[in-house]
Amino acid sequence: MLSEAAHRDGAMLGQVVYERREGDFYPTPPENVDCLAHFVDLSKRVIWEPACGEGHISKRLLKVTTASVYSTDLHDRGYGRGGIDFLRADVTPRGVNMIITNPPFADLAEAFVRKALELMRPRGGSVAMFLRNEWDMSSEDRPDLFEGHPAYAMKVCVTKRPRFIEGSKGSPRHSYAWFVWDWAKPAGTLAPIRYIHPNNARPIRAAIN
Ligand SMILES: C[S@@+](CC[C@H](N)C(=O)[O-])C[C@H]1O[C@@H](n2cnc3c(N)ncnc32)[C@H](O)[C@@H]1O
Repeated sequence: MLSEAAHRDGAMLGQVVYERREGDFYPTPPENVDCLAHFVDLSKRVIWEPACGEGHISKRLLKVTTASVYSTDLHDRGYGRGGIDFLRADVTPRGVNMIITNPPFADLAEAFVRKALELMRPRGGSVAMFLRNEWDMSSEDRPDLFEGHPAYAMKVCVTKRPRFIEGSKGSPRHSYAWFVWDWAKPAGTLAPIRYIHPNNARPIRAAIN
């Protein structure tokens, strides 16, 4: 049960005074996963969700795609394997060729993106991160992750603002997008920007042979 203060969390609602949750635990409303799966074929992927929380992304991936999903988190929240600090990971679980998460906010998000890219590079794998829509605009520190980055492959803008705190009042302030990198992307191809409302998302299904 969330405290009254958590329901007023300004990180999600845009208010000035707020209380941050431990470990920046804000579970992703699962329909947002469908928006990624509408544009990116995840059906044959072996995915690592390295900040899985209570499994909101992982469970949805397992429901709407035929991907395998390996789930870990720094904190044990009763789903996946706890006690794994992604930023210190030096081994990638066997077969993993894609990392997908909604990382902890602020300074850690960039570290997560860079770490995921580093781990996926030798495997020619992919990375998808659920971040504020303006994340590609808001810092002078990370333009190298976008324009000209050899793996930057797509931005999927979700046209319904996610409500991260169930039952919270007021309109969610922030729009979100999936940022996708793919080390197997052909050289010189551009990264399209796509738009999708969760109600219209139809995850790509694996072809039945
Ligand atoms: C915004 S929540 C998202 C949870 C889940 N990915 C989802 O979308 O529902 C961020 C999660 O990152 C986890 N976390 C924070 N620092 C971490 C780290 N260094 N390594 C792994 N997980 C971490 C937190 O415990 C929390 O569950």
